[in-house]
Amino acid sequence: MRILVVGGGGREHSLCWAIAASPLCAKLYCAPGNAGITQVAECIDVAAEDIAGQVTLAQRLKADFVVVGPEVPLAMGLADRLAEAGIKVFGPSQKAAQLESSKGFTKDLCQRHNIPTSAYRRFTDAGEAEAYIKAQGAPIVIKADGLAAGKGVVVAETIEQAIAAARDMLSGNRFGAAGASIVVEEFLVGEEASFFALTDGEHALALVGAQDHKRVFDGDQGPNTGGMGAYSPAPVFDATMQQRTMDEIILPTVRAMAGAGTPFKGVLYAGLMITAQGPKIFEYNCRFGDPECQVLMMRLKSDILPALIAAADGGLKHFDLRWSNDTALTVVMAAKGYPDAYQKGSEIRGLAAAATVEGVQIFHAGTKFGEGGRVLANGGRVLNVTAMAPNVEQARERAYRAVDLIDWPDGFCRRDIAWRAVGRQR
Ligand code: AMP
Ligand code: GLY
Repeated sequence: MRILVVGGGGREHSLCWAIAASPLCAKLYCAPGNAGITQVAECIDVAAEDIAGQVTLAQRLKADFVVVGPEVPLAMGLADRLAEAGIKVFGPSQKAAQLESSKGFTKDLCQRHNIPTSAYRRFTDAGEAEAYIKAQGAPIVIKADGLAAGKGVVVAETIEQAIAAARDMLSGNRFGAAGASIVVEEFLVGEEASFFALTDGEHALALVGAQDHKRVFDGDQGPNTGGMGAYSPAPVFDATMQQRTMDEIILPTVRAMAGAGTPFKGVLYAGLMITAQGPKIFEYNCRFGDPECQVLMMRLKSDILPALIAAADGGLKHFDLRWSNDTALTVVMAAKGYPDAYQKGSEIRGLAAAATVEGVQIFHAGTKFGEGGRVLANGGRVLNVTAMAPNVEQARERAYRAVDLIDWPDGFCRRDIAWRAVGRQR
């Protein structure tokens, strides 16, 4: 098969790395890709959000199958446009992608179908939101309805903070149309986990869970980011939690979406709080997590490609995947200043030496080639230094050994990835 992967981050590098290993893959392309992805795929400079450009590219490459990595092109209808052009695609339709592109849509769906989530109300009027926030008290969570690159959520410690966040979003200054409608929801207490399931619109196949690290600094301090590191398996998400999540959250969602005439095909990413009452969903995403995908691809022993095709074709009912029991852990190296302003273009050295550490794979998240084949930083999150080992302590030791071999003065990383799992009683 001739395959095109859409995107150019660490998630797409790990997907390309896994797909390139499939005997079914004859030729692999990635658009736009990055410097690291060129090791496993031919990269073509078409932006992920250029919907018409991606469809034309898939046609020109005679792609048999397109795998869409990021949420923005899915929310813009890339899967619909590819299907109309007769090209098989992994990723949900624009309507199904509303599970990520509208937080209010997802909350309403959960409420209608008794899917465990926090109490909430939707608002377009700041005065009404303020009255509700005052009645509920703090802490309380304020969310822009639409896509906001992970920045549209404010966990407010005080009523004043919550009101300010609601007013800021509804004013349209901060997130434009994405904030024209907001969700105000109950603060959930517990430990977070990310869980993934493939679905073909009718059936769901559980993948595995992982734990992300959203805050930029050690000890979960500082602003939220796209994710500074992840590991899998996460002890908090054991077999019982996974079964409950499938039965109470994933399967009712798949049935609800099919029942509404908008079946979800692709990967459902459930952002979960493991509370005293069990798993509760605080958000859905319509794509793999980044950097969670990187650790999932490391643990996956089976060929991923037939599973992605089965999700597109409707053949997941009798599908099975095998996973390593080892732990995979990824450390995100970011440009200094991220998630706020940062510089691009600094040189990264030592990648070859770092890649020789046992069990290590380095996925590129935001890099490009400079003169003479030098690797340059080209984004906020730049590298995902990923390691596998029989336990989390060893995986962490290997990952940081590789990090320390990378010579990039303009970069930084968290030093405490998997702190909740290291040394935990099992
Ligand atoms: P999101 O951008 O939707 O991933 O949310 C960012 C972060 O906000 C999540 O990773 C959670 O830590 C936190 N969060 C979102 N919703 C809630 C909630 N209802 N209760 C507590 N924390 C939440
Ligand atoms: N790692 C969080 C996300 O992909 O949204």
